[in-house]
Amino acid sequence: MAVDLTQDGELAVLTLNRPEALNALSFQILRDIGEAFDKVAHMDVRALLITGAGDKAFCAGADIKELRNRPLMDQKTGAELGQSVFAKLDRLPVASVALVGGYAFGGGSELAMACTFRLAAPNAVFGLPEVKLGLIPGYGGTQRLPRLVGQGRALEIIKTGRNVRAEEAERIGLVNAVVEGDLMQAGREIAGKFTRYSLPVLDFARRAVTRAGDTTLEAGLEIEADLSTLAYRLTDAEEGMAAFEEKRKAEFKDG
Ligand code: HXC
Repeated sequence: MAVDLTQDGELAVLTLNRPEALNALSFQILRDIGEAFDKVAHMDVRALLITGAGDKAFCAGADIKELRNRPLMDQKTGAELGQSVFAKLDRLPVASVALVGGYAFGGGSELAMACTFRLAAPNAVFGLPEVKLGLIPGYGGTQRLPRLVGQGRALEIIKTGRNVRAEEAERIGLVNAVVEGDLMQAGREIAGKFTRYSLPVLDFARRAVTRAGDTTLEAGLEIEADLSTLAYRLTDAEEGMAAFEEKRKAEFKDG
């Protein structure tokens, strides 16, 4: 299998496992990733880590050899497939963390950008080099990159197709952190910072924050007020505030 899904305690771990092609995304692999996300939604886990096999790449993007041999109509289907698979991450009940070591180009960068968090090894190299192929990003890059780094920088990165190394990626907000050492361990640690909180509450926070990039302040504040009220009504809020008063750790029940 070119996509492995395993469980490590309270974490699901998805590994792109096609190192001989730098984990490039064939249409079949994209479909397998989609199926894996559907499975994660039903697993008893509290976060999803996504990694690439081998030490050279997280993912070198869409499989160019396969793309080249597709009729034009299929290219549209390809973009729709990639977009719909990566959009599933937004609907997962748990947060996702991309662990990027080596190359994350094209669809590989786009997969990382669709995750809730991104950690990079010092050798990580991001890029949306589609213009070099006579293409533009098709798996969400033109929409998610500007939301992460701003429109000016996104346009420059997409129009030049240049590489963005780990240090710059961190500086411009494309990744949350660059970590030395074991990336998987760093993934476990960042997940450990939120896995004990209430899943629905974390999801309300994500939904409110992600709307900040695409709505007016007034509408966004209304969304915040609605979600904040929903959170307040959960027993987890009762438990969290009671635990504060009783000077103990809250025991959330995800409801
Ligand atoms: C298919 C790929 C691939 C890809 C690498 N390989 N990237 N195969 N699709 N995206 C294959 C190579 O052909 C080669 O196999 C093997 O992986 C190792 O790659 P090398 O090129 O020999 O490695 P290296 O010299 O170290 O260069 C690494 C690299 C380079 C800089 C990452 O491979 C590269 O530029 N890859 C393409 C990156 C890219 O343009 N991605 C965006 C794709 S478009 P063989 O069998 O030849 O030895 C996209 C969105 C499209 O993602 C949207 C459409 C709707």
